[in-house]
Amino acid sequence: MTETGAGGRTSLHGQWSGRLAFILAVTGSAVGLGNIWRFPYIAGENGGGAFVIVYLVCIVIVGLPIMMAEVLIGRRGRRNPVATMRLLGDEEAGAGNWKVVGALGVGTGFLILSFYSVIAGWALAYVFESASNAFAGATRETVEQTFNALASNPLRTGLWHTIFLAATAFVIARGVERGIERAVRLMMPALVLLLLVLLGYSAVEGNFAQGLRFMFEPRFDELTRDGLMEALGHAFFTLSVGMGAVMAYGAYLPRDTSIMKMSVAVVAADTAIALIAALVVFPIVFANGLDPDQGPGLVFVSLPLAFGQMPGGTVIATLLFLLLTFAAWTSAISLMEPATAWIIEKFRLGRAPAAIIMAGITWLISLLTVLSFSTLSGVTFLRGTFFDNIDFLSNSILLPAGGLAIVIFAGWIMARESTSGELDPDAGTAYRIWRFTARYLTPLAIVAVLLRGVGVI
Ligand code: PFF
Repeated sequence: MTETGAGGRTSLHGQWSGRLAFILAVTGSAVGLGNIWRFPYIAGENGGGAFVIVYLVCIVIVGLPIMMAEVLIGRRGRRNPVATMRLLGDEEAGAGNWKVVGALGVGTGFLILSFYSVIAGWALAYVFESASNAFAGATRETVEQTFNALASNPLRTGLWHTIFLAATAFVIARGVERGIERAVRLMMPALVLLLLVLLGYSAVEGNFAQGLRFMFEPRFDELTRDGLMEALGHAFFTLSVGMGAVMAYGAYLPRDTSIMKMSVAVVAADTAIALIAALVVFPIVFANGLDPDQGPGLVFVSLPLAFGQMPGGTVIATLLFLLLTFAAWTSAISLMEPATAWIIEKFRLGRAPAAIIMAGITWLISLLTVLSFSTLSGVTFLRGTFFDNIDFLSNSILLPAGGLAIVIFAGWIMARESTSGELDPDAGTAYRIWRFTARYLTPLAIVAVLLRGVGVI
């Protein structure tokens, strides 16, 4: 805790041991179910092509500048997102009410974690399914049955999800340096390696040409209003921005790290992993006559089919689901950290009781998602099941709203010297591009998509 923030501030929760640790932690937050489970399935639901292109545009003009904004705000404030927004709001504009943005993020984190932990529970269950050789020689029918049997059984799903949530709370309780850093170091390279093995399989055995066409052929007439909103929402979700997770991590960042370079590296890695995952999934989908539009089960059905036919498939499947669970774990930790840091600072609690309270509240909300795939699957309103509604509300509305507020704060409310002080004291070209984007392009893009989403334009 020797490094200090603006005005000599230090974080109560410690600090990353160095630049690499921070990059790993943010990458750990960004890379998760969003890349491997969610991206392929929502691209599939929205017809690929145009959706993927809009998503990539959103990553560059919305996600990346907001990630830089969040980290710089976090490092300057060195507190939990609520306190940081209040402090900087006061300093920059005499308006502590900016804390509302931090509070909104804390709430969004609960909502996201409530379904995230359920899907992560499926991944964990699949580690054991794979290890028990359940996918050897599997057919389309058997993999679909395996998935449905898990998702439609609330007790099984609930058990795995409870284990996952407890594991997340455990790392949170142990603290930033000891917990989060360690969890990421080995996992990330191993995950990429396995995905590349799968990509090789898909290229040889799958219908690669059709997969490529599905993902990159720009069929803009097929992009619906909802698809547009989902592409924007997913850019936020996959980069973990818009709710203060990256801001909370920024609070533990040493001063000498370049926020801009770090953000570009994380965003590039995250996007590459998502594209590779989709390039693994779709060729398998098309080669086996699966439906690209089948929703949240897509990865849990398509990958086991491939594993079942591959030499060494059992080992590869087990490892992949294990790594996916780990990737989800490091993301879930970052979903829980802002709220935990806030409770600790506000109520002067220890990390362990704070983590237990967080996990308890999340667990209760999670029941809605657990039941959405079983007992309550027939209860639909607005967007569909409870899960569909929670997913849409958090990703397509709350994250963009939070991100908009954050980028307006960084671009318009914070003084130029304050932001350049964190990003680049010499205010070079890269800084000027960031500032222009953050002030004009990013807010305009978010507002345009939201207005189009509700049908105003
Ligand atoms: N970025 C994570 C993923 O792609 O799986 C999910 C996530 C983590 C979203 C943290 C938001 C967040 F604050």
